[in-house]
Amino acid sequence: MRRFIGKTAIVTGGASGIGLSTAKLLASEGATVVIAGRDERRGTAALAELSAIGGKPLFVQADISDEDAVRRLIGSVRTHAGRIDILINNAAMFYESDFLQETTDRWRAVFDTIVNGAYWCTREAALAMKEQGSGAIVNVSSINGVRALNRSSHYNSAKGALDQLTRCTAAELSPYGIRVNGVAPGFIDTGLSVVGGENELETEWFKQYYVRERKIPLARPGQSEEAAAVIAFLASDAASYVQGAIVPVDGGLSITF
Ligand SMILES: NC(=O)c1ccc[n+]([C@@H]2O[C@H](COP(=O)([O-])OP(=O)(O)OC[C@H]3O[C@@H](n4cnc5c(N)ncnc54)[C@H](O)[C@@H]3O)[C@@H](O)[C@H]2O)c1
Repeated sequence: MRRFIGKTAIVTGGASGIGLSTAKLLASEGATVVIAGRDERRGTAALAELSAIGGKPLFVQADISDEDAVRRLIGSVRTHAGRIDILINNAAMFYESDFLQETTDRWRAVFDTIVNGAYWCTREAALAMKEQGSGAIVNVSSINGVRALNRSSHYNSAKGALDQLTRCTAAELSPYGIRVNGVAPGFIDTGLSVVGGENELETEWFKQYYVRERKIPLARPGQSEEAAAVIAFLASDAASYVQGAIVPVDGGLSITF
């Protein structure tokens, strides 16, 4: 399939995990991909992988929790490619902390990345998309956006807000030919699964509860490529009548209790 020929896509947090898998898939199907991230070394390595696939990829060092940096990012993309067809709001951070021990600075940092970063990227990209009369935005949320996992109120609350940003912008940007959808991954095997130095997917409790007892009906964590496949579908013209949807990519985890 070559679904993205002639399209320009931005993937925030695109130098690793789900973002990098998505960037590679979009590039392999013809897109000019721009990955935005904070870490120059990781971004340069990811850019080398994308260049090997082809097209005219670009890495922009940008902290999307900084509004000015987002403006510069969007300006760089327009200079590089002349248009913005696809935005994947993927960047996020996760850590565990007790609600009563949380600090305002850390809470704000999570919201500045997951909620405000997506807001700034969406607003700036949508202005370009409006001029073009078309665009597709995919927000990478989490099943935590609708579930109360302990020790991550910051992240769960931010993902819940991101889900509402998805629905509200889908409704409001429809007249400009812009579609906005989301994916809600469950457990996906990426660097984000390493919490406090330990890969939670390798722990005995994970294997017993989620796998052997089939709390995840498909009895395994997902791979970043499996999330990327759904993100790319939502970004593609094949999803032309999908608007404001948030699609679980969780092996069935969210349907069990
Ligand atoms: N891995 C999972 O199990 C899982 C589950 C549910 C949702 N998700 C979501 O998937 C998305 C991708 O996560 P991942 O699992 O690939 O982990 P990841 O850590 O590999 O990817 C997150 C990326 O975002 C970047 N990032 C963080 N803050 C940033 C900022 N302020 N500016 C620019 N870049 C920033 C990180 O450097 C990293 O490259 C995230 O939105 C995450 O919440 C992941």
